[in-house]
Amino acid sequence: MDTSIKNINAYEILDSRGIPTIKVQVFLDDGSLGDFSVPSGASRGVYEAVELRDGDLARYNGKGVLTAVENVKVKIAPKLLGTDATKQREIDNVLLRLDGTKNKSKLGANSLLGVSCAVCKAAANSHNRKLYNYINSLLIRELNTVKEILPKLPIPLFNVLNGGAHADNSLSIQEFMIIPFGITKFSEQLRAGAEIDGHLKRILKEKGATTSVGDEGGFAPDLPTDETALDFLIEAIEVSGYKLESEIVLGLDIAASQYWEEDDKVYAIPNLSGEKVLVDKPKKVVDFYISLLNKYPIYMFEDPLAEDDWVGWRHLAKKFDFKNRLLVGDDLTVTNPERVERAAKEKLINGMIIKPNQIGTLSEVFDVIGLCNKYNIQKIISHRSGETMDTFIADLAVGTGSSFIKNGAPQRGERVVKYNRLLEIENELVPNTSSSNLI
Ligand code: PGA
Ligand code: ZN
Repeated sequence: MDTSIKNINAYEILDSRGIPTIKVQVFLDDGSLGDFSVPSGASRGVYEAVELRDGDLARYNGKGVLTAVENVKVKIAPKLLGTDATKQREIDNVLLRLDGTKNKSKLGANSLLGVSCAVCKAAANSHNRKLYNYINSLLIRELNTVKEILPKLPIPLFNVLNGGAHADNSLSIQEFMIIPFGITKFSEQLRAGAEIDGHLKRILKEKGATTSVGDEGGFAPDLPTDETALDFLIEAIEVSGYKLESEIVLGLDIAASQYWEEDDKVYAIPNLSGEKVLVDKPKKVVDFYISLLNKYPIYMFEDPLAEDDWVGWRHLAKKFDFKNRLLVGDDLTVTNPERVERAAKEKLINGMIIKPNQIGTLSEVFDVIGLCNKYNIQKIISHRSGETMDTFIADLAVGTGSSFIKNGAPQRGERVVKYNRLLEIENELVPNTSSSNLI
């Protein structure tokens, strides 16, 4: 089979918010094709790799990606034609060299990632391999590890209530998640998520709150406080017949960078508690978090402090129950090996969000996965709030043996398509198996 790259094409498509993004197609000499559509975040960390946008206000309010498309076709494609698509690291190194900047600001992380992931898919297709299996063998080769990395289905983190930057409502916490932690099979975990989501809808309706949804498919009601949202969530779990704590636990993404006021070194978080706005120094905010964690079964706690507030993170880490809960970095770590290493060495996190477009190439994602494995950090493969119908992250989660996938609510096509891909994988692997080790 000739896995040489014959042609690379790119064009502009729309994401789930109706904002342009880039789709890349990689064609191989043997006729195989791989394509990848790049997602886009709304609450982006400042240390993320640059998402290149045209800035031409006459098109899509400046959000067009024709420059990124051009970069793929004119600057990247000629350098990769004839290269063997199975040489992922070599190809990613070419991409990094062509860009030449630390934050991918020259060619754009969106152009780089489009090519990197499309190459991976094309190579898998050429060898007639399942994408998750191909990713698994790439990762094992990359990490050069004696420890086996088994593909396994991740536990879904369902973001069923949306606030913050993902919805125009009164909730400050960006994501309220339900986690079917005590249920073993993926299809049953999905069922639990969908059933609880349905009960939550009914409860919100009964209380006179809106049931329209936010960017990630979660409901986006105006509620008096964020704690009211947690109470509704617990009611939905209880009436659904699932057991709180032993079967279902909660997760929160505070996305606190949005509320950090660097000049005064305080957080100003509206609507979080009974007070209208909680304005406080990190130490006080940490105390509030600890009381919240004691009150609710919150297993996963993401970005409770801002990306630059290392002092605040240290305060929380000192008091955090790492044995029973996950303290998760997203904006803090931005899938960036340097930031991950720092957070890991300081023992600030035991869970990490992995978003390929935060860094720009698949090989760098593998580097970060290597660090997670080295420091015993739980891997959470994640979508972005602006998504497409691409299902790559489902295969990435399985192939890298990641414990969790963060993929929004079990509704809205661009979210459900990834959950359905995981159902397909569950069926392909050992039927009736648990979601731990599958092969
Ligand atoms: P984003 O948010 O995709 O809008 O950046 C997701 C998150 O913060 O986890
Ligand atoms: Zn986040």
